[in-house]
Amino acid sequence: MSDAPSKRALHFSLLTMPTLAHNDYGMWRHPENRKARFDDPEFWADLARITEEAKMDSLFMADGLGIADSFGGSFDVALREGMHVPVIDPGLVAASVAAATTHLGLAITAASTYDPPFSLSRRMATLDHLSDGRVGWNVVTGFLKNGDDNYGVPPASSSAQRYDTTEEFMDVCYKLWEGSWEEDAYVLDRNSAVVIDPAKVHRIDHVGEHYRCSGPALWHPSPQRTPVILQAGMSERGRLFGAKHAEVIFAATMAEPAAYTDLIADIRAKAASFGRGREDLKIMGLAGIITGEDDAAAERKAAEYEKWFRPDGFIAHLNAANGFNPMAHDREELLLEALRTDGFKRDDFTNSIQRADITVGEYMDKFKEFRATPGTFIGGPQKVADEIEEFVDRFDLDGFLLRSYSYPASVRDFRDYIMPELQRRGRYRTDYEGTTLRENLFGAGHARIAANHRAAGFRGAFTGS
Ligand SMILES: Cc1cc2nc3c(=O)[nH]c(=O)nc-3n(C[C@H](O)[C@H](O)[C@H](O)COP(=O)(O)O)c2cc1C
Repeated sequence: MSDAPSKRALHFSLLTMPTLAHNDYGMWRHPENRKARFDDPEFWADLARITEEAKMDSLFMADGLGIADSFGGSFDVALREGMHVPVIDPGLVAASVAAATTHLGLAITAASTYDPPFSLSRRMATLDHLSDGRVGWNVVTGFLKNGDDNYGVPPASSSAQRYDTTEEFMDVCYKLWEGSWEEDAYVLDRNSAVVIDPAKVHRIDHVGEHYRCSGPALWHPSPQRTPVILQAGMSERGRLFGAKHAEVIFAATMAEPAAYTDLIADIRAKAASFGRGREDLKIMGLAGIITGEDDAAAERKAAEYEKWFRPDGFIAHLNAANGFNPMAHDREELLLEALRTDGFKRDDFTNSIQRADITVGEYMDKFKEFRATPGTFIGGPQKVADEIEEFVDRFDLDGFLLRSYSYPASVRDFRDYIMPELQRRGRYRTDYEGTTLRENLFGAGHARIAANHRAAGFRGAFTGS
């Protein structure tokens, strides 16, 4: 455990969503939880400031553009549980957070399916300008039928097909971000009165199978140009996409922690096949920390939080994401059998890698107790720091995307108890490394996307006007 790789500094981001219940169903009722104020900019400013004091990489904003109706065939469960509804626009929330912070990254989820690449890339560039280079884009393709219906797009025949289309979407964005404006095109020369040098701004003239976009980009290059690309798809096709495009991958499994071994090795091997090294891609696990001044205080807190949690909401959430409804099966049935009966192949199932002998009942029971979910750390600073170090070193992770149980108490607890302990062990930053999100992930001097990333291939690719 003392060899060089195990001493890598760890990265944390805060998983959240501008909605009442994200994966913390029922918790909004807890007397100290302020998440019910998710539509108040002061709530976000306060949360973001604490997250920045905790020196996390970013506030990671999830999003969904439809209401889940797959559980029982109606919106009822989603509405009753407040499952990602009401939800407001995370990109606009991020703009207000940018004004309240100076270092914290803003990782925004946006689906490639519901916007043309021109408008999405413009929105990201705007946020990158407003935040002085702190924006990340969590690339998702959207999987809710109601989302498709809201935007009038035909349902994709498969998630793999959406990823195929998104490949072209990414290229259009990269062309606009990296290739359309040369570095010194925006001259703002007071003497000659020239604002932009026409010779240095180029059309991209993209004509592809799914998109047409002439350009040039309407905006001048932002500090990072291409926002940090993040991704969290866990299917075979999703991993391939992430390995090629993502600079940060959020790897999640509801199965045994050991499932991370194959998952992480597979993603890293896929990245290598695109010529990307260990240092080009950060992989974060999904975790939750319940802590306090000592183990006993943390245990009391966990027991208290569990009283408010509603596991049925979480099961319905997973059903919306992966299509599997465990309630339709006997508790005694083997999970893999149940998946097979429902026509799932292992790779179809978002949280696919399950212990072969787990039953449907055991699978559901995992959600009743926080500690049964892989990556849940409950204890005082020493115990949690020990477990975190052991976990990341064992699975070759770079850090974690952290769930919250109570807002902003969970982040405050991380700041007050876990951050100092990890710093003492030399496993966590004592200050931000740079001003942009990419520098804080990859080190000073790395504000722009790596030269071996596909996006960089579009630098200097266009010369005409
Ligand atoms: C930690 C994490 C966060 C996610 N956040 C979102 C989100 O905000 N919006 C969304 O549509 N999908 C989200 N997803 C879903 C995935 O990004 C992906 O779209 C989904 O798993 C389907 O892709 P797959 O079939 O490759 O797994 C998230 C997944 C994980 C693991």
